[in-house]
Amino acid sequence: MAMIAYKCPQHKVVVVDIDKEKIRAWNGSNLPIFEPGLDELVKKTRGKNLFFSTDTESAIREAQIIFVSVNTPTKTFGQGAGRAADLQYWEKTARQILACSRDSKVVVEKSTLPVRTAYAMERILNENSKGVHFEVVSNPEFLAEGTAVRDLEFPDRVLIGSKETEEGFRARKEVVDIYLNWVPRERILESSVWSSELSKLTANAFLAQRISSINSISALCEKTEADVDQVSGAIGMDARIGPKFLKASVGFGGSCFKKDILNLVYICESYGLEKVARYWESVVEINDWQENRFVQNMLVNMFNTVAGKKIALFGFAFKANTGDTRESPAIYVAQGLLAEQAEVAITDPKALKNARKDLKDFKKGVTFEPDPYKAAKGAHAIAVLTEWDIYKGLDYKRILKSMVQPAFIFDGRNILDHNRLYEMGFSVFAIGKAPLRHF
Ligand code: UDX
Repeated sequence: MAMIAYKCPQHKVVVVDIDKEKIRAWNGSNLPIFEPGLDELVKKTRGKNLFFSTDTESAIREAQIIFVSVNTPTKTFGQGAGRAADLQYWEKTARQILACSRDSKVVVEKSTLPVRTAYAMERILNENSKGVHFEVVSNPEFLAEGTAVRDLEFPDRVLIGSKETEEGFRARKEVVDIYLNWVPRERILESSVWSSELSKLTANAFLAQRISSINSISALCEKTEADVDQVSGAIGMDARIGPKFLKASVGFGGSCFKKDILNLVYICESYGLEKVARYWESVVEINDWQENRFVQNMLVNMFNTVAGKKIALFGFAFKANTGDTRESPAIYVAQGLLAEQAEVAITDPKALKNARKDLKDFKKGVTFEPDPYKAAKGAHAIAVLTEWDIYKGLDYKRILKSMVQPAFIFDGRNILDHNRLYEMGFSVFAIGKAPLRHF
């Protein structure tokens, strides 16, 4: 919405939320999320044509177009628990839009939703005797965290789906016209509302599938002395495969991939497509397996016990340049090591606040330390779990001297210079590479 406000000074954008604290933060000097470039964007627009408010009623009443971005977490109860999307917030919002509206509006699905949600929403919105009509348009968001501002400013494509009726086309055009303020026409794709809804789930499933594919090969590389970075380099140069999203890692995290794939699996099951459901479910299974493999690998190589040993985790965010830790592999690794009674020291430039929340149930054995040198001091091992640039440039000679010997590095992101670290004296274990052991 900040990008829309910035690119469309002729439009007034009001962001509303029921969470007063959040809105206060968006109106203050410390924005509630860290995202490179977002501060400047908000500073340029806030108070001019971008407003943050808790007055949902007035905002609904005044708006011509409403982008609904409420959360759609995985259901934790009842039918479809653990897989299906929990649509209660979406439905409540639709009912609130209906209650507060005095005229017809376009309602845009911005949250990622199961295919055919628009149908249910239209039913709820349009069963009214107020004489108002709502068109539901799907406009999924493809931005990635850490690069959100760039992804919004220069999107690969913007997808806008609507009903293929006269009213549907009119609503679609209203949304297309917003993006035309800065996105080239050929990058704006129009489709049916069902294709648009399903494309978002499919895009995330394909991206995650690439990571699980290369991660499955990383395990084979470790057994055969092939190097996974060389393999992904070689296959990525095939124009049909392409080089992106082939970086082997401790596993994918983030708020979307797992949730959306499980949702896709649930939808397939509900249409009786068992084979398709199992196919996509395996993408998540490989990811869980990869995270578990990482912890097991640490345990086995550290003489089958980490009890009482200090282990420094370099990075807790699910990827670099964000403070977000949702579904971060680091949570799983930390829990695994704590269950083995290790002393875990967590360091991260932006995610320590969230890390504390994620591990609040562990009363002992875990410390949080902004300085990586201090986190590694007295440790038996370092595990790199987020690909922050700062970890590449640390003085590892100094770090080695401060650690218990033999010192281990487990590079879950393959960002360090493994041969150099090995020559220094570390035993180095990377993803999809032969181990470099001194014993
Ligand atoms: C993702 C999609 O990319 C985005 O289009 C969608 O809108 C939301 O979900 P995001 O979760 O922000 O975005 O991050 P992304 O860059 O996709 O990374 C997801 C996870 O995969 C991270 O944990 C990342 O470290 C990991 N990853 C990514 C790999 O392990 N290897 C890769 O090659 C790429």
